[in-house]
Amino acid sequence: MSRTLRIAAIPGDGIGGEIVPAAIQVIDRAAALEGARLQWTEYDWGSEHYRRTGRMMPADGLEALAAHEAIFFGAVGDPEIPDVETLWGLLIPMRRAFDQYVNLRPARTFPGVPTPLADGAGIDLVIVRENTEGEYSSEGGADEELATQVARFTRRGVSRVARYAAQLASERSGRLVSCTKSNGIIHTMPFWDRVVAETVAEFVGVELRSVLVDALSAELVLRPRSLDVIVASNLFGDILSDLAAACVGSLGLAASANLNPERAHPSTFEPVHGSAPDIAGRGIANPLAQIASGAMMLRHLELPRAAGAIDAAIEAVLRDGPRTPDLGGSASTAEVGAAVAAALGAAAGARA
Ligand code: NAD
Ligand code: IPM
Ligand code: MN
Repeated sequence: MSRTLRIAAIPGDGIGGEIVPAAIQVIDRAAALEGARLQWTEYDWGSEHYRRTGRMMPADGLEALAAHEAIFFGAVGDPEIPDVETLWGLLIPMRRAFDQYVNLRPARTFPGVPTPLADGAGIDLVIVRENTEGEYSSEGGADEELATQVARFTRRGVSRVARYAAQLASERSGRLVSCTKSNGIIHTMPFWDRVVAETVAEFVGVELRSVLVDALSAELVLRPRSLDVIVASNLFGDILSDLAAACVGSLGLAASANLNPERAHPSTFEPVHGSAPDIAGRGIANPLAQIASGAMMLRHLELPRAAGAIDAAIEAVLRDGPRTPDLGGSASTAEVGAAVAAALGAAAGARA
């Protein structure tokens, strides 16, 4: 029986327009292995749309997205337009409107990919980042003399992300680290600590360790295998996820999922990295983070064999090449995408 799934694709800005097409060919082929067909609707939203219309997406853009099973997103951000227009005109509204309160950001090492750490082998961790509130808020303001920014943490917001992280930890090693800064940020972070601890206490077999974000950053570099599941607020999770990606070898490998775990709304799948204007237009961006985000999407859409096939094909390409320049190679985005697609074919052939 063939399943057809409606997916919205938003390549966005910069390298988004290069890595999203490379990923779509891989995802289509993988889905077919499991008897599913993806029906893509591509939206040309982003900074060019903004230049043309004054908006990053049409006024009814979120409504259009709501009719899809998932959203596959590249990146937005343009050096000529303030990020508050681009990111708060598309990505952040999407995360909030669809209540994508879990931002899942795995990081693991791969055979064939050197890490910059002295002792970086065997990293396998997941950051569970709160994705709808916290430090990212529009409350506050600025004039010539003063700027304020109100961080808003709610019991509902903190407990639901902590619950998700505790459940994930219970399915993995049972070890959960909560990222905090309650020594310097004296209202929101002690509240975070309290609500996380109360929530995690309900999970028998999950051991919670609360670690200050500065020390946790050092731990990630010095003892990365001590970490398994990390639950973090919006800002800390953002910073730690680029750090974790760098520790395992490249930002070009880091996938992510913005999840609405209740499935009341579509979830969004996108790389951790941004639009990389410094390399955009040259065809050299690593498409693997985008492709791996596609595997996370297929897993969410309950196509685990298709997702597993992509992960295996990525591993094969990382082991044998070709590689883009961020991994020390000289291959193009398209060559790496095609190699992953071909490795999928080989995997399917081997099973047949
Ligand atoms: P970035 O992640 O775009 O780039 C950081 C560095 O990593 C750059 O040197 C870039 O060339 C490199 N890099 C990133 N992805 C790569 C890939 N796939 N292959 C090879 N190299 C890669 O971060 P930035 O430069 O700070 O941000 C650029 C713009 O993107 C900004 O406007 C920022 O706000 C935005 N941004 C958007 C998102 C998003 O849409 N989700 C995420 C992060 C940043
Ligand atoms: C990310 C990005 C965004 C974030 C920015 C562009 C607003 O850095 O997805 O990691 O901080 O959420
Ligand atoms: Mn980020």
